Amino acid sequence: MDKLLVQGGRCLRGTVRAHGSKNASLGVLAATLLVEGVSTIHNVPRTSDVVTLMEIMRSLGVVGDIDDDGTAVIDASRILAYTPTYHLVRRMRGSFHVAGPLLTRIGAVDIGIPGGCAIGSRPVDFHMRGFESLGADVKQRHGRMIARCKRLQGTRIYQDPRYCSVGATLNIMMAASLAEGTTVIENASRDPDVVETAEFLLKAGAQIEGVGGPTLEVHGVEKLAGNVEHSVCGDRIEAGTILIGGAVSNGDVTVTGINPSHLERFLEKLSEANVDVQIAPGQVRVTCGRRPTAVDIVTAPHPGFPTDLQPIFAVLASIAEGTSVFEEAIFDGRLQYVDELRRMNARIRRVGNSGNVAIIDGVEQLSGAPVRASDLRAGAALLLASLCADGESEITGVENVDRGYDQIEEKFLTLGADIRRIPVIEGPNALEASL
Ligand code: EPU
Repeated sequence: MDKLLVQGGRCLRGTVRAHGSKNASLGVLAATLLVEGVSTIHNVPRTSDVVTLMEIMRSLGVVGDIDDDGTAVIDASRILAYTPTYHLVRRMRGSFHVAGPLLTRIGAVDIGIPGGCAIGSRPVDFHMRGFESLGADVKQRHGRMIARCKRLQGTRIYQDPRYCSVGATLNIMMAASLAEGTTVIENASRDPDVVETAEFLLKAGAQIEGVGGPTLEVHGVEKLAGNVEHSVCGDRIEAGTILIGGAVSNGDVTVTGINPSHLERFLEKLSEANVDVQIAPGQVRVTCGRRPTAVDIVTAPHPGFPTDLQPIFAVLASIAEGTSVFEEAIFDGRLQYVDELRRMNARIRRVGNSGNVAIIDGVEQLSGAPVRASDLRAGAALLLASLCADGESEITGVENVDRGYDQIEEKFLTLGADIRRIPVIEGPNALEASL
């Protein structure tokens, strides 16, 4: 485990390229389980969640790995098991993506049900109901979902429009791609990660209509073929994180390797906050020579404001002129960062029946402090706050940040930040190491 030591107050300047999208990679890699043959996936980030998914897939009999250039070569010709081990599955929610592919490809899956996590309760009932609607026999026993089927049968599935679940859309779309007949998913997720996975499946021979829209129509095929090559899109959340770094440090930062249309609401809000935003094909530049102004945000499924960037944007609101109101409408625990930001002199309070609204009164300057990353995006928010705070901050819980960012500090170092990663030694040598 590591911690980050950050000296705040550096102005960030320069250009960096975003890694491939972590969440799109999780979808595409899981989808390779459907392909009888070799898939080659480029631009895969080596975040710990992606590495965990690769371990899970290997435990199922898949042969494959990710090389140093971010290319994963995966041979899923033979799947030998349908019971991914719980010690890997419980590490991350994205592991449930393998359920749909296993069920439809080999007719069985027995997988631990992920529990709640730091950002909320996160059940998988939509996924399980979807599998049942497709004709599988689905049971929940001893904390596991056990599902079996002969061949899944196409059907009509109506998703809750408040959520348009990303994970359930992925699982149902993947399962339906080898089902008999047509499956219609209403209120499907329009998220770029779902689009990316669908595009990979189309290359492999799947028949999916309506990709990127609210209704997906999946016409099942008998088999998906091998030798598919695909490159994952840039990570819009990593890009958003770096762009906020530029804005809160009065800097001038360009992020390349992304599709700016994936960040439309986020970029609109940046402009509304008085940050200069320049959009060009494949890249976005922000410059900010003055104090940003307050904005209000309500998170929503894509193309709404992304929940993953809500904690990140809260850092900008913390130093903006005026009062911002942020409502988190997707996850019930995604304001965990509030208490840690308050330790850095931010003036934020949580209101609302479930505490899902944050009222943020901007202050002129945050103050460096020791803080702990409770989850991935909360950790990224604390890093951004540390970059613009005065003095030193020490961030622990960095393993949570590493789940979704491939060496996050590297890009900020390129832009002129002062960050050091220090291994935290535990066990009998801990005292000696700290002396
Ligand atoms: N929900 C249910 N039942 C279900 C599924 C979802 O009630 O069966 C609820 C959730 O509890 C939540 C809402 O529906 O309140 C939306 O959840 P969704 O299923 O869309 O999220 P997810 O698939 O679990 C993915 C990303 C998240 C991202 C969300 C929303 C992956 C591995 N995770 O989660 O990413 O926040 O979509 O965009 O793709 C992150 O990267 O930091 C992260 C948390």
